[in-house]
Amino acid sequence: MINQTVRGTKDLLFDEWYRFKYVQQTASEISSLYGFLPAETPIFEYTEVFTKTLGDSSDIINKEMYTFNDKGGKSITLRPEFTAAVVRLLIEKKLQTPIKLFSTGPAFRYERPQKGRQRQFHQINFEAFGIEDPKADIELITLAQHLLTEFGIDKNVRLEINSLGDGETISKYREVLISYFKKFQNDLSEDSQNRLIKNPLRILDSKDKTDKEIISGAPKISDYYTKESLSFFEQILNGLTILDIPYTANDKLVRGLDYYCHTVFEFVTEDLGSQGAVFAGGRYDNLVSSVGGKHTPAIGFAGGIERIMELANCFVKEERAVYLIPIGKEAEEYALALANELRRNGLYVIYEYSGTLKTRMKKANQADAKVALIFGDEELSSKTLKVKDMDLGEEKTVARSNIIKSIHQVYGRNRKSRFC
Ligand code: HAM
Repeated sequence: MINQTVRGTKDLLFDEWYRFKYVQQTASEISSLYGFLPAETPIFEYTEVFTKTLGDSSDIINKEMYTFNDKGGKSITLRPEFTAAVVRLLIEKKLQTPIKLFSTGPAFRYERPQKGRQRQFHQINFEAFGIEDPKADIELITLAQHLLTEFGIDKNVRLEINSLGDGETISKYREVLISYFKKFQNDLSEDSQNRLIKNPLRILDSKDKTDKEIISGAPKISDYYTKESLSFFEQILNGLTILDIPYTANDKLVRGLDYYCHTVFEFVTEDLGSQGAVFAGGRYDNLVSSVGGKHTPAIGFAGGIERIMELANCFVKEERAVYLIPIGKEAEEYALALANELRRNGLYVIYEYSGTLKTRMKKANQADAKVALIFGDEELSSKTLKVKDMDLGEEKTVARSNIIKSIHQVYGRNRKSRFC
């Protein structure tokens, strides 16, 4: 089929392209205020980069990866997320920690496409390595909140946070959960039955109706925190309160990837149907060492660009043009040089190669040009141009040598496009 995109993928055209780039650019600029450095990894990796990090029970590993053998027989996977790839980069390049890395680009998951969910989607991704202190968690959440404000969507999105505690907490809680859910084994959904031994925590975020009833009576993780885990979590919640960042503590929030410990969080919305999470992430102190790196505490999150764009009431006001209207043969020839000069001064110029004054004026209106430059023999010999403000209908004759300045005066402050 050569006339349609692959299911779950999209073309990016015109104003959507600008909005997309705006999200990436803004995320990059704001992350740099927090000390993030740019890092770009390839869009595919050896498959183990993901299978050894994301967890056997995760949906990504079980059913969503785009994996294939390349012509050399190596198993390759299109990245389903960035964290594993950035960890690979950190270890391979022996980067000194602490370090904070910002990445952006496409990711691929074979999921059922719907509003806010694609098979090729794009993330802005933030990872901070080598910082044990809970202040790093607070700062990252602050960065996420900062971005939401910048995109104008902080009112539609709320923060949910939980702690999975440390290794001791998780293994104790796992046991307790297994024995609780075993009592209802036959009533659980098929997915949850499969998770019962592999990763019982994941049952907690099941959407199945009967599962949910069973979950409502399940033991709570907060009852199994070690003293250190509880204190770590409390410091974070306390920090959020001081910074005036509202949150809901949700003890059922476990996240779909196995590498997390301590803090997990999601910025969620009701405005995207079932695809509620806009930003999501957490701490993963043991991941780097589990795949051969040094012990490196780490925390990060990622945001879905498509979801941000869906929520943000962004508009694109295209740059308005300077429309050239030469009259007569000599002016016509002169127009090319004039267009060249204006463009090299950063102006958007429309010059169509033929037409009468009347039809060109009509076209300038249709193109919503801001300025029309009208010039014939008279203007050429007096080294002037007529500059018309298309909004006000006012026309004045200005010296050729002053043209750039005069055009800028007509535009006033509003020349540049705005995206949000
Ligand atoms: P995630 O929850 O799988 O986490 O994805 C993060 C965000 O990516 C989601 O909240 C959502 O906005 C977006 N997203 C995920 N899947 C899709 C999809 N199919 N279509 C559109 N948007 C999607 C991670 O990826 C972790 N690596 C986050 C992280 C970074 N944790 C620590 N560091």
